Amino acid sequence: MPDTVAVKNIGLRGVIVADTAVSFIDGQKGILIYRGYRIEELAESSSFMETAYLLLNGRLPTKQELNEFELMVKQARDIPDWLIHALKKLPKKADPMDVLQGSVPLLAMDDPDLHEQSREANVRMAARLIARVPAVTAAWHRIRQDKEPLPPDDKLSHAANFLWQVNGNKPDEEMAHDLDTCLILHADHTFNASTFACREVCSTRAHMYAAVAAGIGALAGSLHGGANSRVMKMLLSLENEKDIAGWVKDRVDRGDRIMGFGHAVYKTMDPRAKYLKKMAERLGKSKGMEKWANLSREVEETAASEFDKRGKHEIRPNVDFFSAPVYHIMGFPRDLFTPIFAISRIAGWCSHVIEEKFAEAQEKPALYRPQAEYVGHYCGLIGCDYEPMTARA
Ligand code: CMC
Repeated sequence: MPDTVAVKNIGLRGVIVADTAVSFIDGQKGILIYRGYRIEELAESSSFMETAYLLLNGRLPTKQELNEFELMVKQARDIPDWLIHALKKLPKKADPMDVLQGSVPLLAMDDPDLHEQSREANVRMAARLIARVPAVTAAWHRIRQDKEPLPPDDKLSHAANFLWQVNGNKPDEEMAHDLDTCLILHADHTFNASTFACREVCSTRAHMYAAVAAGIGALAGSLHGGANSRVMKMLLSLENEKDIAGWVKDRVDRGDRIMGFGHAVYKTMDPRAKYLKKMAERLGKSKGMEKWANLSREVEETAASEFDKRGKHEIRPNVDFFSAPVYHIMGFPRDLFTPIFAISRIAGWCSHVIEEKFAEAQEKPALYRPQAEYVGHYCGLIGCDYEPMTARA
């Protein structure tokens, strides 16, 4: 093995850094597969709980296995009182993604399996994280409005319980089902930036909570999961715009990015966006909020035509473009959109952490340690002469 590979690739586009059996993308054809199953199939027939089990365990569960897994998640929905007290001390303007990223390592302290090394213990930790990432998000949303966090409702499904804990009213069934589908669609996406961050941290043999906290930090960025709230900001700013085409053209001319467009892997429309586009249209109609699906479609068409004119036919809507109107129609505030992404992606992150930790897709675990070319100040290997403070101009 050479010490270095001659090609420098900033952003690691197209570089295969590891094997994975969790998910697969065909970027040219716009196909996403979890553990062998097309996401469209899972979105139609599965539930988020079943999909999470599939991602974590590599196969679909039996009825009994699914019941046991769901019970394990339900039993972990309560977050410790001391964490609620800590959240109450935070400034109310704190961003929900920062609160989530800060809370995850605290939750590690409440996990009885933290120092257990078996795969089973890691799956139990994953189940607790799957339960508690939404619980913290909902609790923080209540606390910042000076409301008390609500206890979970054991009779409700995962998505419906989240709606209940955020809003405090009986969840609408169509909405709960659609939210569950959104969670399925966002649950994994091979080596995206946040998953890579999780795997990188885990490769040091840090625990799952440390890895997931890194993933949440990466997801928050505007080029990754943070794009969905920026899409909504754009749509809200365009609500009364008469000349959408002119607005889009100016933006692309200036070299500014259209949020929710483009992808590092897809060279065609993201399959999740196709699904969410239909959901935005249907849900919009059913809730009397068609205008958001219509506006998204108009921006989509004009942006695609601008990119086509520039020969950039591959820049098409990604998952964040249509999840934004969907979450807006569901009534979520804009700054909860990216936490909802995390509530789903936690299943993928934990599956990748387990795969990395137990070297399930490759020969043995390896510490990620790339190299960089040094382009800084250099005086040779002997090093620069240290100037005492008094001698510096
Ligand atoms: N609007 C305008 N131009 C774009 C866009 C966009 N959304 N996306 C890519 N481009 C242009 C970019 O300016 C560059 O042009 P040039 O070659 O002339 O400098 C070219 O396309 C290549 O862009 P890149 O950033 O070098 O490479 P990429 O294709 O790997 O970028 C991306 C992927 C996601 C960073 C980018 O498409 C982007 O910034 N999109 C907007 C943010 C966004 O929607 N992010 C969500 C990503 S998918 C879901 C998720 O991970 O959360």
